[in-house]
Amino acid sequence: MAYALEDEFGDIIGKARRGQNMSHAETATAAGISESDLSRMEKYTLNPTETQVYKLAEVLNLDGAKLLSIANEEWEPEPIQHSDDALEVITVSAPVGGWPVNAYILICKATNEAAIIDTAASPDQILKQLGTHKVNTTAILLTHSHSDHTDGLPRLQSATKCHTYIHKNEPKPRSAGKLQELEHSDIVKVGELKVTVLDTPGHTPGGCSFHTEKVAFVGDAIFAGSVGGPNISYQDEINSVRDNLLTLPDDVRLFPGHGPSTTVGEEKLHNPFF
Ligand SMILES: [Fe+2]
Repeated sequence: MAYALEDEFGDIIGKARRGQNMSHAETATAAGISESDLSRMEKYTLNPTETQVYKLAEVLNLDGAKLLSIANEEWEPEPIQHSDDALEVITVSAPVGGWPVNAYILICKATNEAAIIDTAASPDQILKQLGTHKVNTTAILLTHSHSDHTDGLPRLQSATKCHTYIHKNEPKPRSAGKLQELEHSDIVKVGELKVTVLDTPGHTPGGCSFHTEKVAFVGDAIFAGSVGGPNISYQDEINSVRDNLLTLPDDVRLFPGHGPSTTVGEEKLHNPFF
């Protein structure tokens, strides 16, 4: 079976290196390996030795043991095991621009009201699921405005006629309606569920996560075993994930924009960025 993580060793060291503004040459010299070997490791054409993994982790401020476990393909998160009395999460995964992307539907079981989280991973499939579950959709929540998470927004707005929410610091995507702005600790109600906004910038200026009960939708802030590309600020990304997501209870399940879901506890144990 293919290793299921969104990012593996090469992506992880590439993101850490670029996030800390280190060149190939600088990183390779500090780690005692050749520049071309480092490039090949980032492109998955050369496997690192255990010593090289630990050395690169030290140079890039990553956790060496956790990085080695991913380099050796020894860890992936446990699949979802039990359901929740208060809510249901439906995952819609589909390729966008050639790469798999996740959108989610959060359903309040008490009222059958629902929110759509991100809109690009097949609006058709999202609408089909809403119909199958016979829910009343009351909100569209956007973790960030990258097109692989927001294409499809006008279509879903027209079909559901519900409010769309996005962080106030985030560039605004193409929209068929008014966008309601959010900030850290705001609450959006989905039926009886109180969904709290958590700032998780760094991948984008106003990236945010949505937390309720034992689930959080985290966009591209954190992936199982990795983080999203630190396009705006590596330090903001690391700090906000550490302070606003990894402080949630260990059994909170994190649903990212790419790759498998994971939990706070598993990320604390296995994510080499933390
Ligand atoms: Fe993104």
